[in-house]
Amino acid sequence: MQHRPIKTAVFPVAGQGTRFLPATKAVPKEMLPVVDKPLLQYAVDEALAAGIERLVFITARGKGAIDDHFDMASELVAGLKARGKTAELASLEGTCLEPGRITSIRQQEPAGLGHAVWCARHIVGADAFAVLLPDELLWNPARPALAAMHDAYRQMGGNIISVLEVTEAHTHRYGIVTPGRSDGLLTEVRGMVEKPQVGTAPSRLAAIGRYILQPEVMDVLAKGRRGAGGEIQLTDAMAELIGVQPFHALTFEGTRFDCGDKVGHLMANVALALERSDTGPALRDWLRSLEL
Ligand code: UTP
Repeated sequence: MQHRPIKTAVFPVAGQGTRFLPATKAVPKEMLPVVDKPLLQYAVDEALAAGIERLVFITARGKGAIDDHFDMASELVAGLKARGKTAELASLEGTCLEPGRITSIRQQEPAGLGHAVWCARHIVGADAFAVLLPDELLWNPARPALAAMHDAYRQMGGNIISVLEVTEAHTHRYGIVTPGRSDGLLTEVRGMVEKPQVGTAPSRLAAIGRYILQPEVMDVLAKGRRGAGGEIQLTDAMAELIGVQPFHALTFEGTRFDCGDKVGHLMANVALALERSDTGPALRDWLRSLEL
């Protein structure tokens, strides 16, 4: 069966990032670096690796640094070329795509993740599309999360979300799946609930910020129904498609860092820096010297 193509990825980056104040007073949370690359760049690279053609950033006031980061920086490039700084030039790869591939849309009020996704409806049109939350850093360079989901989509069609098993005590922090049949890493989704109260979660399978969705979710979001926290929740809109369209969860094989959280962000920095030849040896030596 031919499934609708996935050409567009939506990146909701309009959140205020209050957990990172004061750093996020002037710098968007998504521009905080992990080692030397902004969080949003990791998510963009992941989308490009999955064959995505169009990127839509859902931004807000004060997020201008995001547009600047993905713009052509002619003077910078010319200066690096003139000084023969080839490694530094190579590091800019993926930060400047051809005009028209990146669109920014302002979410005019912080009405929730579902509302942010809905802001992209005119660009998404009648195709299936991806949503990536950049503060969730899903790390598996050999098999990036969205590429694995795209492969699953080619088989199953419908809606695919990325999940990880969390501890019972942490289920209240996530959108949690009611699971149906399982086949390896793929689980049929029978229901979803956003941030269930402790002890009421239908499973320990938690949505972790990557979604492949059918465009009909936009019609549900258009109703503007408010859910948990008085916000328009993506989870609630997705839940309405379950049973109507195929819906599966793909367990992510890799390491997930919650970089919207200070400790998660620090862990990502340490883990990724340890993997790199330019930063790993010195950091490892210093960590060993600590008397913890
Ligand atoms: P978070 O719940 O992490 O909120 O949003 P936040 O504002 O970014 O961070 P804190 O909790 O205040 O520190 C999850 C994702 O949804 C986006 C955020 O940008 C983030 O990627 N989002 C959330 C929007 O784009 N718009 C919204 O109205 C709400």
